Amino acid sequence: MSTETVVEPTGHTVGRETILAARNVTMRFGGLVAVDNVDFTVHSGEIVGLIGPNGAGKTTFFNCLTGLYKPTSGEVRFMGEVLPPKPREVVVAGMARTFQNIRLFPNMTALENVMVGRYCRTSSMAFTSILHGPKFRREEAETRERAAELLEYVGMKGQGGHLARNLPYGDQRRLEVARALATDPKLLLLDEPTAGMNPQETRQAEELIFKIRDSGLAIVVIEHDMRFIFNLCDRVLCLVRGKTLIEGTAAEVQSDPRVIEAYIGSPENEEGGAHA
Ligand SMILES: Nc1ncnc2c1ncn2[C@@H]1O[C@H](COP(=O)(O)OP(=O)(O)OP(=O)(O)O)[C@@H](O)[C@H]1O
Ligand SMILES: [Mg+2]
Repeated sequence: MSTETVVEPTGHTVGRETILAARNVTMRFGGLVAVDNVDFTVHSGEIVGLIGPNGAGKTTFFNCLTGLYKPTSGEVRFMGEVLPPKPREVVVAGMARTFQNIRLFPNMTALENVMVGRYCRTSSMAFTSILHGPKFRREEAETRERAAELLEYVGMKGQGGHLARNLPYGDQRRLEVARALATDPKLLLLDEPTAGMNPQETRQAEELIFKIRDSGLAIVVIEHDMRFIFNLCDRVLCLVRGKTLIEGTAAEVQSDPRVIEAYIGSPENEEGGAHA
């Protein structure tokens, strides 16, 4: 894994690990180039934002970063290694994500949903084990305990027994985060974590993401809520029609007129306009 030396605003020199490095990533669907030659780096301890109007290619790029899609060309390295071929192996390597369209098991309880995330770290394949021996029971008890801790961590203490489908929308998003954390990731990728949340829930989500970062994870977050993004992120990448429009610190990107133009649309960009 590479380490780069950075001089912080305080004047201190620190070494930052490169957690994720995407180089020249392109993803085509037939004639459509959804992601066009994008470079992207995430260092340890960073929160990096990914913004851009609807259809800009943000989710498609996420799918390339997390191994759900194999890019048409380009390379993604995680912790210095090329991504393993199967999404499950990517999770085991230490990358976890949530989805723009929530993907929970609706008829399982909140606790069980988090336990599912944990099974990639247990040895006895709890779902399929027919010989429920002592090792299985011990791991099952530990998994249950860890899942309960994670529910508390995301602010859902006491809600473990509710079926996922009966939870309010904001809690379903939090539950997805708990399930992702159950895999013990080094990098967490969140696709629109505050979509559908009220302002209070959004503030809680912001606090939760800072707390997760402070616990030692790097985070990549897609959002349309600009106040949320610029408050939260160290760096921001803005995609437009699959291409990098600008990448920089939150302050640099926030004040760049091209970003505002990309969202509100310009005469050459008639389909622009997102729910920013
Ligand atoms: N599986 C697919 N097959 C074909 N085209 C796709 C596929 N997935 C995405 N696209 C297209 O790729 C482009 C980028 O879509 P993507 O969902 O990545 O955008 P996005 O930036 O996440 O948008 P939003 O903000 O609306 O979530 C769009 O034109 C979309 O229609
Ligand atoms: Mg998307």
